[in-house]
Amino acid sequence: MTEQQKKQKIRPFTAPKGVPDYVPPNSRAFEAVRGYLQHRARLAGYEHIELPVFEDTGLFARGVGESTDVVSKEMYTFADRGDRSVTLRPEGTAGVMRAVIEHNLDRGQLPVKLSYAGPFFRYERPQAGRYRQLQQVGVEAIGVDDPALDAEVVALADASFRGIGLTGHRLELTSLGDDSCRPEYRRKLQDFLFGLPLDEETRRRAELNPLRVLDDKRPEVKEMTADAPLMLDHLSPECRTHFETVTGLLDDMGVEYVINPRMVRGLDYYTKTCFEFVHDGLGAQSGIGGGGRYDGLMAQLGGQELSGIGFGLGVDRALLALETEGKTFGDERRVDVYGVALGEDASRAMAVLVGKLRNAGISSDMSYGGRGLKGAMKGADRAGARFALVLGESELEAGEVQLKDLTAHEQHAVALDDVVAQLQARLS
Ligand code: HAM
Repeated sequence: MTEQQKKQKIRPFTAPKGVPDYVPPNSRAFEAVRGYLQHRARLAGYEHIELPVFEDTGLFARGVGESTDVVSKEMYTFADRGDRSVTLRPEGTAGVMRAVIEHNLDRGQLPVKLSYAGPFFRYERPQAGRYRQLQQVGVEAIGVDDPALDAEVVALADASFRGIGLTGHRLELTSLGDDSCRPEYRRKLQDFLFGLPLDEETRRRAELNPLRVLDDKRPEVKEMTADAPLMLDHLSPECRTHFETVTGLLDDMGVEYVINPRMVRGLDYYTKTCFEFVHDGLGAQSGIGGGGRYDGLMAQLGGQELSGIGFGLGVDRALLALETEGKTFGDERRVDVYGVALGEDASRAMAVLVGKLRNAGISSDMSYGGRGLKGAMKGADRAGARFALVLGESELEAGEVQLKDLTAHEQHAVALDDVVAQLQARLS
């Protein structure tokens, strides 16, 4: 390095724009929420599926839909060194269907129930609660078109959010119909929209995806579309029965919902039941999770004619929603026990002791770097430990350790051989 280079200050790197880091202590709540959402899925019989973070670009173009913003504007697409077009997954459902077909999971017991967790990538304009790398926990139940399964999936999402402590959200529900009624409804809606004095861009949207015009937030458009025909009033008898069965089951289960016939989801594959969890504390990015049924997706991706239903819950937004409700989730502590060793011999003995504690399932850490008592106790405090174990030369000679209860502020000597059992008893 030249003198001049040395003088030039090296500017540290920062994470790419719109990409969050999850660093301690906040990463604890992140891990706890993600883990809990996965746990609830496992409790309902969904098995873990771990999928590639990038896939063939065509999978998303065909699965999610070319007319969606997600595909047309937000994908991270690039050519790899072999000149294949690949895309960082913007969502999970298309990849799950690809894997189900590829591994013939749909040839066994149905429904196939799968859950996944991880990062997804969308080139959106970053703002609070809207990231370019976002985290979801999702489930998909594939192969059976039973409204009871729709109710299970919706109720599972609701229970998952309630389980982390959220109460300020509402569940919005609708039916988007299917091939037997949607094309005709779409024509009706387009006839209505083309009769309105819409601007050029909105008119184009009415041609491509008329349903999306109903979700326009501009007051003048809202007013113009107040009397627009709604899908819910144009369902085929089968779709209507399907929807009424789902809502009836949710009533039985005590899951509260509001029907929002103007709901528009950003992905093209949905049919029949569609839902979204909305949290008003979050401002513009209020969707904390959503999902729905998809009748044609598997066939569209080259598989059998099987229907499925699933959801994606936003871990980032669930955490923000908890924050706005003044709540946290998960353990506040880094470890339960913190070893304070004074002197070289004591440090060696403490290293053996914390090893035993960890083997017994007790989370523990110890001071390093030959710190004095005061500095080491600060370490115990920062770790949020409930107990400190103080081991000096005199304790070591006596074959004992001082067990300090940091909440009750009392301490007593314990034989080194008894420490694990004593702590197990006191932490249980
Ligand atoms: P989605 O509604 O696009 O659905 O995303 C699900 C959730 O991911 C959203 O409700 C939101 O909480 C979170 N999310 C989406 N984009 C962002 C972002 N830019 N920043 C932060 N969080 C975000 C799906 O992805 C479907 N695959 C869900 C599904 C599964 N449908 C059927 N099966």
